[in-house]
Amino acid sequence: MKKVLVTGSAGFIGSHLSRRLLKEGHRVIGIDNINDYYDPKLKEDRLAELNHENFTFVKTDLEDLDTINQTFNQYRPEIVINLAAQAGVRYSLENPHAYINSNVVGFTNILEACRHYKVEHLIYASSSSVYGANTSKPFSTSDNIDHPLSLYAATKKSNELFAHTYSHLYGLPTTGLRFFTVYGPWGRPDMALFLFTKAIVNDEPIDVFNHGNMMRDFTYVDDIVESITRLTKRPAQSNPDWSGANPDPGSSYAPYKVYNIGNNSPVRLMDFIEAIENKLGKTAKKNFLPLQAGDVPETYANVEDLFRDIDFKPETSIQDGVNKFIDWYLEYYGVKL
Ligand SMILES: NC(=O)c1ccc[n+]([C@@H]2O[C@H](COP(=O)([O-])OP(=O)(O)OC[C@H]3O[C@@H](n4cnc5c(N)ncnc54)[C@H](O)[C@@H]3O)[C@@H](O)[C@H]2O)c1
Repeated sequence: MKKVLVTGSAGFIGSHLSRRLLKEGHRVIGIDNINDYYDPKLKEDRLAELNHENFTFVKTDLEDLDTINQTFNQYRPEIVINLAAQAGVRYSLENPHAYINSNVVGFTNILEACRHYKVEHLIYASSSSVYGANTSKPFSTSDNIDHPLSLYAATKKSNELFAHTYSHLYGLPTTGLRFFTVYGPWGRPDMALFLFTKAIVNDEPIDVFNHGNMMRDFTYVDDIVESITRLTKRPAQSNPDWSGANPDPGSSYAPYKVYNIGNNSPVRLMDFIEAIENKLGKTAKKNFLPLQAGDVPETYANVEDLFRDIDFKPETSIQDGVNKFIDWYLEYYGVKL
C-alpha cells in the first residue's frame, strides 16, 4: 500500500481515481484549489464522497510553492498523480494566462517537489489535444506532435517536455497520459455530454459544431481509473531499444513514457447525440454550427502500448457509458422526466 498524492482530487477524474485508490487500501492526499471554472458545489460534493479515514484533503493552488513543498514535506508521498490543470480547449482562447499559471507554473512546482522529496513515480495528465493538426489515424505516441491548435494543447505538450527533462536529469520516473474525451457520472459541466443532457432535459437547443461532422474516441471514466490504477504499479522505465539516431517520441533512454488512454473506437457526434436521446426518450433540437477555433474534427487513440504494458484497454460502449452518466445526472439534480 502506498502514499499517493492526487492533485485535482475534487475534479471529475481526480475524485473517481481517489475513491478507487482508497478502495485499494492506499493512503490518499488530495490537493485542489476548488476554483470556479465550473460550479464549485459539484467539486465540494465530489469531495464529500471521499470521506474516508485514509483521505486527507489540502486546499491549495499548485502555484503556491510554499504550501506544495510543505504538503510534500509533511506527507512524503511515494506516488504523485497530477490531474489538476486548467482544462478545456475553448476557454483557452479567452483565458490564456489561466493555462500558463496552472499547467506550466503549477506543473513545474510539482516536478520540483517530486525531485526534492524523491518521489518514486510521477503520473500526470496530458491530452489527446496534443495531436493537434495530425491527421494520420489512429493517433500514436510515436507520432510527432509539433503542431498544437490551442494553448491548452501546447501546455499539455510542454508538460511532457518538462517531464522528460526531469526523468533525464534526476532519474524521476514519469508517465504522461493522453486522455481522450473522458465522460461518466460526476462529469464536467463544460463538456458536451453534460451540456447536451442539460439542454435536452430543459427543451433547449444544443450546439452541434462542424455541422455534426465530428468523431470522438469517448472514454468512460472507470476505464481511465482502471488504467491509472494499474500504472501506479508500473513506474516508467528506460526503453533499452531507444535510439537518439531515430528518437521515438513516446519513450526514452530515461525513465519516461507517454500513453494514449482512449477507447480505440471513435463515435460520430450524431451517434453520440442519439445515445443521449435514446436514454432520455427525447429528441434534441439541434443548432448546427461551424467548427470552433482550436477544435479538432476527429480523435482516435492507438492503445497498443497501453494494452501491452498493463494488459487492459478501455472498452465501455458509448450507450452503456451515456446511460450511467444520465442516471447520475437525473438523480444528482433531482430531475423527473
Ligand atoms: N476530461 C477529459 O476529457 C480530459 C481529456 C484530456 C485531458 N484531461 C486532463 O485530465 C485532468 C483532469 O481533468 P478533469 O476532466 O477531471 O478536469 P476537472 O476540471 O474536473 O479537474 C481538475 C481539478 O483541478 C483543480 N485545479 C485546477 N487548477 C488548479 C490549480 N492551479 N491548483 C490546484 N487545483 C487546481 C480544479 O479545481 C479541478 O477540481 C486535467 O489535467 C485535464 O486537462 C481531461
